[in-house]
Amino acid sequence: MTEFEKKIFEVKEKIKNSKNLSELTKISSEIFSKNGIINLEFKKLGSLPPDERKNFAANINSVKKDLSEIFSKKSNEVLDKEIIDKVNNEKIDITLPEKDFKIGKVHPVSQVIDEISSIFSEIGFTVEEGPDVENDYNNFTALNTPENHPAKDMHDTFYLDQDMKTLLRTHTSPVQVRTMLKDKPPFKIIAPGRTYRSDSDQTHTPMFHQLEGLHIDKNINMGHLKGCLNYFIKEFFEVDKIKMRFRPSHFPFTEPSAEVDIGYRLENNKIIIGEGNKWLEILGCGMVHPNVLKNCKVDHKKFQGFAFGIGIDRLAMLKYGINDLRSFFECDYRWLNHYGFDPLDVPTNYRGLSR
Ligand code: DAH
Repeated sequence: MTEFEKKIFEVKEKIKNSKNLSELTKISSEIFSKNGIINLEFKKLGSLPPDERKNFAANINSVKKDLSEIFSKKSNEVLDKEIIDKVNNEKIDITLPEKDFKIGKVHPVSQVIDEISSIFSEIGFTVEEGPDVENDYNNFTALNTPENHPAKDMHDTFYLDQDMKTLLRTHTSPVQVRTMLKDKPPFKIIAPGRTYRSDSDQTHTPMFHQLEGLHIDKNINMGHLKGCLNYFIKEFFEVDKIKMRFRPSHFPFTEPSAEVDIGYRLENNKIIIGEGNKWLEILGCGMVHPNVLKNCKVDHKKFQGFAFGIGIDRLAMLKYGINDLRSFFECDYRWLNHYGFDPLDVPTNYRGLSR
């Protein structure tokens, strides 16, 4: 066997055993490059007697052709295999139930906001938003709150400037004002969001959540308010019947004003909503004061309606049996893992709110 034949035999073996394209690229340059086996063999032509040259060259050409064929066949095989491996490795079986990415949980407050939004959107309310940083006019003045009202006290409100003109909103009611000022009646909105008061103990945190409701139209009365809240409470607690009572109250922005209590009883330390003879306050409401309508450029002779404000954290605690409000804001992953909700299970009325 000549030296050339030996080398050809070796590279054929290498081609046969190669496993990927980068190995093949190396072998290719060993054979076909300028200093590769084939070219080096051609270089010998010059030193041969003329009558041998033709056969010698023909032989190299046939070896070259042979190697090229073997090489391209093997390259195709390797390429096909690489593609198939890639496709197999990247394949996602969409029929498998998800398991790996179920690592986050929805906070009970977000869950309750989604639930309440779903309930009210079912009866035609749309969702509005307002900023956490408000001005004194939207938060107090437009809402008919007198200058000397205790809520305006520095001890209750976080002011952001010396003049007490900019503040962290103390309730979601300023979203009523913003909504009425930017649009024309009728209005039928809810506005969930963060609210702030200078208060902290087991049932109060400096930041908490409220949901405002507002329905203004030509003939809206207390009966509509009662029906609306009755529907909401039943849907929210997922019960067929509830006990609900309106207690006269006072808010500067509503006249008349009421607080709403729901009836409950305790069974093995668990709250059962809708039965029993204990009462729990869950929201404030009333008919929007004509002064508020005037401040918001709504014709109070043509339009009237109701508003309500719900403490979201309180409802979340009640519905999901959480007894310390502060735990909501501690960012303890174990707590969230226990009380949180599946992010893929978006609450809807028809599929179920909290399953
Ligand atoms: N803004 C009130 C609060 O923070 C709650 C409230 C009461 C809102 C009555 C209303 C309402 O819209 O009509 O305590």
